[in-house]
Amino acid sequence: MGFTGGKADVLSTPSYTSWASLAARQMSSAPAFEHILVEKRGEADNVGLITLNRPKALNALFDPLMEEVNQAMKQLEEDPSVAAIVLTGSEKAFAAGADIKQMQNKHYVDCFGSNFLEHWNGVTKIKKPVIAAVNGYALGGGCELAMMCDIILAGEKAKFGQPEIIIGTIPGAGGTQRLTRAIGKSRAMQMCLTGEMITAQQADAWGLVSSVHPPDQLVDEAIKLGEKIGKHSKLVVSMCKEAVNKSQELSLNEGLHFEKRIFHGTFATNDRKEGMTAFVEKRSPNFTDS
Ligand code: CAA
Repeated sequence: MGFTGGKADVLSTPSYTSWASLAARQMSSAPAFEHILVEKRGEADNVGLITLNRPKALNALFDPLMEEVNQAMKQLEEDPSVAAIVLTGSEKAFAAGADIKQMQNKHYVDCFGSNFLEHWNGVTKIKKPVIAAVNGYALGGGCELAMMCDIILAGEKAKFGQPEIIIGTIPGAGGTQRLTRAIGKSRAMQMCLTGEMITAQQADAWGLVSSVHPPDQLVDEAIKLGEKIGKHSKLVVSMCKEAVNKSQELSLNEGLHFEKRIFHGTFATNDRKEGMTAFVEKRSPNFTDS
C-alpha cells in the first residue's frame, strides 16, 4: 500500500507527530517508524524522502533502524505516485557506521548464526532510483549504505570513510567491494587499510559522488534530481537503472548483451512508442509507465 497525501504526510516518531497526523497515520494503517522519518517531497509530491533519525548516536545503524529503512523503501517502491527516493541523515551525520556498542560483545557464532548484516542491503533491491544525500559523516556502514544507492550527492562538509580497521574488523556491508568498484583498488585499499576519512571534495574528484552542494541545499538538490528523473517513464527508468547496475557485476560482453536485451525490451512498452512519437510530432511525451 502506498502513502497518501503530500508534505503533511510525514511518518515519524510520535514525539515529532501531532495527534491529528498520528490518528491519520493509524487510520491509513501505515506503520509507525521510530528511527526514521518518511515523507513525500517535490512539486508533485513524487519524490520519497527517508531521513535517518537517530541523532544521539549519529545515526549509527542497527537492525531495528535498517528494518525500518527496508520497510519504508518497499512502501515507496509500491506507491505508484513516487518516481524516485532520496535517503539522507542529519547535517552532522548521514550515518557514523554500524552501532559499535551493539556489536561490542558479539561473537562469531552470533554473527554467523544470525547472518549479521545480510538484510541491510534492502536498498539494493529497489527498482526505483535511490539518491543518497550525504551531509556529515558517512563512515563504515554509513558509507556502505550510501554506496548501495544509485547516485550519491554530498554536502560540502561530508566525510566518507571505512574506519572498521581502527576497531579491529573490516567493512561488512560492501565497503571492500563497492568502494573498490567506485574509486579503484589503490584508493579503496588505502581507505580500508588506514581507516582515514576523505572529504566531499576528494570523494567528488575520485568519482564516489556525483556532485557537492552547500549542506543546507543538499536535500533540495537531491529532491530536484529525483523530480528531473521523475519526468521520464518510471518503467523505462527502472529498466535503465537495472542495466547500469549490471555493469557492476557482469563482464563487458555479458553486460553488453544484457543491455541489448533490455533495450529491445523497451520496444514492448507503450512509453517507448510514445517517447519516439512525441519527438517526431515535436511535442512533450505523455508517459503512462506502461
Ligand atoms: N556506533 C555507536 N555509537 C556511535 C557511533 C557508532 N558507529 N558513532 C558515534 N556514536 C555515538 C558516540 O558513542 C556518542 O555517543 P555518547 O554521547 O553516548 O558517547 C555519540 O554518537 C556522538 O559521537 P562522538 O562523541 O564520538 O562525536 P564526535 O563528533 O566526537 O565524533 C565520529 C564523531 C568521528 C563519527 C566518531 O563518533 C566516530 O569515530 N564514530 C565511529 C565511526 C566508526 O568507527 N564507524 C564504523 C563502525 S563499524 C561498521 O560500520 C561495520 C560495517 O561495515 C557495517
